[in-house]
Amino acid sequence: MKRIVIAISGATGAIYGVRLLEALQLQKSLEVHLVMSPWAEKTIALETRYGIDQVKKMAAHVHDYRNQGAPIASGSFGVDGMVVIPCSMKTLSGIAHGYADNLIGRAADVMLKDRKRLILVPRETPLNEIHLENMLKLTRAGVIMAPPMPAFYNLPTSLDDIINHQISRILDLLNIENQLTRRWGNVYIADDEQKEALNY
Ligand SMILES: Cc1cc2nc3c(=O)[nH]c(=O)nc-3n(C[C@H](O)[C@H](O)[C@H](O)COP(=O)(O)O)c2cc1C
Repeated sequence: MKRIVIAISGATGAIYGVRLLEALQLQKSLEVHLVMSPWAEKTIALETRYGIDQVKKMAAHVHDYRNQGAPIASGSFGVDGMVVIPCSMKTLSGIAHGYADNLIGRAADVMLKDRKRLILVPRETPLNEIHLENMLKLTRAGVIMAPPMPAFYNLPTSLDDIINHQISRILDLLNIENQLTRRWGNVYIADDEQKEALNY
């Protein structure tokens, strides 16, 4: 059984975190540990149709953001990877500087010290010099920076298509097989008539 930490922070795009949890529910051999910041709980309420309790039920274990004694706060527990999705610039900065004053920062710090896979889905625009410096620092430390940038080569026709494409790329980075999106190579090229039908 592999263990993964999913952290949701208070950047806009809470639905990305929720959709990833939904996709991971299909992975029976994966133990999902969820931690949400207080602002994540606010953005979930503001931006999605999901209730917090509904989201919590999507993970095998839910940890309090302030609980630095949670199992995922220690390398000895044996987490295999972690995704912070979406990742606010505040949480990103905390991780970049080892400022582990909450469970998201601490669990990420553990991933870094144990050289485990850590994926951040940073969300902000435009980016200032501090954001970019922090991202470079993290990339150099081995973190994968996977911002939610929509692709259009797969001809998305809904918000769901765009969200699923991003989640598909995250699952790929976790080496989890998925068919959540149309892939380049077997992509279908719409002709003018189809484009009109698709509202392109
Ligand atoms: C609706 C809403 C949207 C926000 N979107 C962003 C965002 O896209 N990126 C970001 O860095 N912060 C965003 N913020 C600000 C963060 O929530 C704030 O910096 C917070 O302190 C982050 O804390 P956390 O990282 O512990 O969740 C947003 C706040 C709200 C209320």
